[in-house]
Amino acid sequence: MNTPRRVEHQLTDKGYVPVYTTAVVEQPWGDYTATDHEVWATLFKRQREILPGRASKEFLAQQEVMGMSAERIPKFDELNPVLRKATGWELIGVEGLLPELTFFEHLANRRFPVTWWIRKPDQLDYLSEPDLFHDLFGHVPLLMNPVFADYMAAYGRGGVKAHGIGPEALVNLTRLYWYTVEFGLIKEDDGLRIYGSGIVSSKSESIHCLESKAPNRIGFDLERIMRTRYRIDTFQKTYFVIDSYEQLMEATRPDFTPIYERLGQVESFPAGSVQPGDRVFNRGTGEGWLDDGDV
Ligand code: PHE
Ligand code: CO
Repeated sequence: MNTPRRVEHQLTDKGYVPVYTTAVVEQPWGDYTATDHEVWATLFKRQREILPGRASKEFLAQQEVMGMSAERIPKFDELNPVLRKATGWELIGVEGLLPELTFFEHLANRRFPVTWWIRKPDQLDYLSEPDLFHDLFGHVPLLMNPVFADYMAAYGRGGVKAHGIGPEALVNLTRLYWYTVEFGLIKEDDGLRIYGSGIVSSKSESIHCLESKAPNRIGFDLERIMRTRYRIDTFQKTYFVIDSYEQLMEATRPDFTPIYERLGQVESFPAGSVQPGDRVFNRGTGEGWLDDGDV
């Protein structure tokens, strides 16, 4: 596979200048193999089968509006006009995880980085880094929602700021991303639903997060979340539940600087702990939990 390359136009004091970068790449759509398209189709059908009644209505509806389908790996260039028109966001192709500051700057400018490659057939259930299926199927549909779209851009700006404050602030902010964007639940009229991308792109966690008795399900609380460690290699021990996407936006509007200062003075909570003052939907049994490994 040749390394794709794209000309980025970056705004400098000399106006827009083209910059060659290896960080942002053209989606090499024509190079996807029949196997790549099959992996997409298999995962897409499998998730669309189990997600009705489990995923947020908004997620499912927006995914359809975007025109993603099992038929073939979507082209970023076909999704972009739809996304731009809805919320001003666009997708850019990347090789994988980006340096933090680069990632934040993309988000702040309403560019969502999507890994261009897709996992292999023997990785349908798990892989340790984000691929096209996770990024595109999991993250992109809610970028069509104006409130969630604003939240993601605000998060990007908040990330640039936290990066300037220091590594501890970044740890606190990353927990917020983890427990909302990646592993968030939302309370809808018919019950709890999934909106976190890390969940909707995983069959086993989509079922576990709602149906298992093991995890805690606790109401969203900004500072509590920013103080809580998480798991990267197992199901989450705790899921936090928002009442609405507006709640997320409103709760994160204030300046986080004093929060970072406060959190710098106190211990973090273990991933599975229940704290006084928590609004507990379910207290987990803790079945199957490993004792160590919270990050
Ligand atoms: N209000 C936050 C700050 O001052 C920025 C932010 C917004 C962070 C939304 C996360 C999500 O840093
Ligand atoms: Co992700």
